[in-house]
Parts: sequence; structure tokens; C-alpha cells
Amino acid sequence: MNIRRFVPDDFEEVFLIEQEAFSDHDTFVYINFYEMNMNGFLVAVKNDEIVGFVVGYQLNENEGRIFALAVKDEYKSRGIGTQLVHAILKIFYENSIQYAGLEVRISNVRAQKLYQRVGFVPCWVEKKYYFDGEDGIIMKIRTSPQCLLYALDNPLQKQVIPIRNGPAFKTPDSI
Ligand SMILES: CC(C)(COP(=O)(O)OP(=O)(O)OC[C@H]1O[C@@H](n2cnc3c(N)ncnc32)[C@H](O)[C@@H]1OP(=O)(O)O)[C@@H](O)C(=O)NCCC(=O)NCCS
Repeated sequence: MNIRRFVPDDFEEVFLIEQEAFSDHDTFVYINFYEMNMNGFLVAVKNDEIVGFVVGYQLNENEGRIFALAVKDEYKSRGIGTQLVHAILKIFYENSIQYAGLEVRISNVRAQKLYQRVGFVPCWVEKKYYFDGEDGIIMKIRTSPQCLLYALDNPLQKQVIPIRNGPAFKTPDSI
């Protein structure tokens, strides 16, 4: 399995995975992501077949955001999702981004477990975050060991968030 940057020829295969995985995503969003942010759009390829993808972007000077992550049904539970998250975190790290964030549906326990295993910490709940009224959990991870993770997204919440779930993300050698 190989992880590489997305190219326009991948669109059809990526859209099929995206449709299978999400009820609320919009195809055109991905075209915009590619045009504005080529470096953060990665695909996992096995035997010339796209088996998963991740889309991340730089939200501000300090934070990288994971927008979408999906793996083809028949390739799930083989570590591909985890490797895609490692690959996007490595790109954030190489771009001196201090921490990464994402939101995940409160019902999506599988994804939450994956993110927590990588080292993401659940920070707070955004009520009715999704179009269908479901709450979202905001999760964060330090990409730099120097970073003290503050709740910068919420000016009312100034305390340091304790990182209890493990050390800062370490860049894997394999990618
Ligand atoms: C969430 C998602 C991306 C996970 O992808 P994945 O490739 O199955 O993830 P991984 O294989 O890395 O990890 C998932 C499980 O496989 C197990 N696993 C990891 N490597 C493995 C391997 N080599 N062999 C067998 N199992 C393995 C992990 O232990 C994990 O099990 P657990 O969840 O019971 O703890 C995928 O389920 C998906 O596309 N979901 C729909 C879209 C979605 O929810 N995206 C996230 C939105 S925020």
C-alpha cells in the first residue's frame, strides 16, 4: 500500500468512496480543496486501486484541520485509515503546524477510537454540529512537542487542555 498526493485522474474513484462513507458531503467541496490545497489531499493506493483518502488543510498559523477521512468498505480494519492520518499529520508537522484538529460525529465510535489511538484528545462537544442535528466532538492533537495545547477555538475556554492520552504525535519513519 502506497500513500501519495491526489491527482485529478483520481476524482472518480475518490468520489465513489466518499459517497459510500458520507451522507452529507458535497463533491464540489473536494474539487475546491484540490484547487486550493493540493498538498493536503492524499490517497491510499493498493494495486493501482484507490482504497482510501484523507483531506487536510491549514486552518490558521498554528492549526491543521482534518476535513475528511474514508476507506473503502472492503479495505477497512487493515490499518489504512490510521496510516492516512499519520501521513496528513506528518505534512502538518513538516509545515511547522503546532497542532491538528477535527470534528467527528458523536455516533462514529469507530473513527473516534482510531483518532484516540493515534493520540487525538476529545476536547469538547459542538451541539448540533451536523446538518441533521447530530452533535460533533472536537478532537485535537499536538503535532509539535513544543506546543502547549490551548482551546484557541473557544475564547471562553482559556485553560490548557491536559494531554492525558499520550505524547505528541511522532512522525512515522515509513511514510
Ligand atoms: C473511520 C475509517 C476511516 C477507519 O478506516 P480503517 O482503515 O478501517 O481504520 P484502521 O484499520 O486504521 O483502524 C480500524 C480498526 O482496524 C484495526 N486494525 C488496524 N490495523 C489492522 C491490521 N493491520 N489488521 C487488522 N486490523 C487492524 C484497528 O485495531 C481498528 O480496530 P478498532 O476500531 O476495533 O479499534 C473507516 O471506517 C471509514 O471510512 N469510515 C467511514 C467514514 C468516516 O467515518 N470517516 C471519519 C469521519 S471523521
